Amino acid sequence: MQKLLAAGLFMLCFGIGYSQPTFHVGGFGAIGDGHTDDSQAFLKAWKQLCEAGGTGRPTLEIPASTTFLLKPTLFQGPCNSNDLHLQHPILLVNGMAIEIAGYASVMLMVSSLKDLEQSMAEAVHFHNCNNLQITGISLVNSPKSHISINQCTGVSISRIQINSPCDSPNTDGIDISSSTNLDIQHSIIKTGDDCIAINTGSSFINITGVACGPGHGISVGSLGEDGADDRVEEVHVRDCNFSRTQNGARIKTFRGGSGYARKISFEQITLIDSKNPIIIDQHYTNDGRRESSSAVKVSDVTYSGVQGTSAEEQAITLNCSDEIGCFNIKMKKIKISSSVPGKKTHAYCNNAHGTSTLTTPNVPCLLRLDKFTV
Ligand SMILES: *[C@@H]1O[C@H](CO)[C@@H](O)[C@H](O)[C@H]1NC(C)=O
Ligand SMILES: *[C@@H]1O[C@H](CO)[C@@H](O)[C@H](O)[C@H]1NC(C)=O
Ligand SMILES: *[C@@H]1O[C@H](CO)[C@@H](O)[C@H](O)[C@H]1NC(C)=O
Repeated sequence: MQKLLAAGLFMLCFGIGYSQPTFHVGGFGAIGDGHTDDSQAFLKAWKQLCEAGGTGRPTLEIPASTTFLLKPTLFQGPCNSNDLHLQHPILLVNGMAIEIAGYASVMLMVSSLKDLEQSMAEAVHFHNCNNLQITGISLVNSPKSHISINQCTGVSISRIQINSPCDSPNTDGIDISSSTNLDIQHSIIKTGDDCIAINTGSSFINITGVACGPGHGISVGSLGEDGADDRVEEVHVRDCNFSRTQNGARIKTFRGGSGYARKISFEQITLIDSKNPIIIDQHYTNDGRRESSSAVKVSDVTYSGVQGTSAEEQAITLNCSDEIGCFNIKMKKIKISSSVPGKKTHAYCNNAHGTSTLTTPNVPCLLRLDKFTV
């Protein structure tokens, strides 16, 4: 299974030339003007790459700073070379741009027809991979999630750009599930849904230097839907900007679920005219489970150095369930003012426990530490 996936990634992503045999995508008729459909050329190149055997690492060279237009394409294995395995690091040429324009989508590997159906509408779907690097790509107007990462370990994403309209539904920028050790850096995400969504089974995720907006923020969840036991921990978001987003730092869990969202931090965050800059909603509900008293536990969440403007007066929402509550919520150096001149911001909280230091607006359910130290 991994073999197939690796092969797919290799196809689009690989470009270093130290190994043999090497194929040049131009040699298969790819034009790379951003308008001509290069899918068939890539497919031909893929076939050769996949059939290449021997001891070398078959390599496809993709020129830097070139935009290829790819339509929905299935790059399928199995391939002959073991070195297409994802156990080996996959590298990308720095600065390479693969642009997926219009409402086209590219499928980078599926291991079965079932996977294919499931991921049909995602622009780039990585499933069951190790040591994946994605850098320097642009994705435009995906019909669904732009990049989805599922069951991967060791993923580095940097300098990518995602650009879809703010009113395009279900177009998450990066969707993460069942994956661990991810590092996302220096990227620009403009979309109609979450810029980054972190779903169950995910842990040790660093997100640094991401500009989000428009979009629905960086979200942990939704977790616990339909009574699921969902778990997310060690998510660290730093040096990120939210510009005119519907949410900023968001944790969202369904009533009736179980599991946890814990050890999460949002630090050095700049907000420009964002709605719901800080929000924990622990009893998101879909009608059937109103009566349920269980919930996904939310704890050990730190917000530090969050500043800027909120489009709503309610800038902070900690809406935790009456039965379970949220614990060890820490706020430090928070300053969120209203983007409407003359308006003040306020915080709402229900059954959230923790501390605040130098936090504006004041969050009534957190113990104010600065009150005692002035
Ligand atoms: C996340 O950041 C921490 C602190 O800088 C670092 O120790 C850890 O290795 C990083 N993890 C990943 C997956 O990059
Ligand atoms: C966030 O905004 C600040 C101030 O405009 C800017 O200096 C910084 O580079 C931005 N960061 C990102 C990740 O875009
Ligand atoms: C908090 O959650 C409850 C239950 O879902 C909901 O009725 C209420 O409107 C929420 N309050 C805020 C301020 O979000």
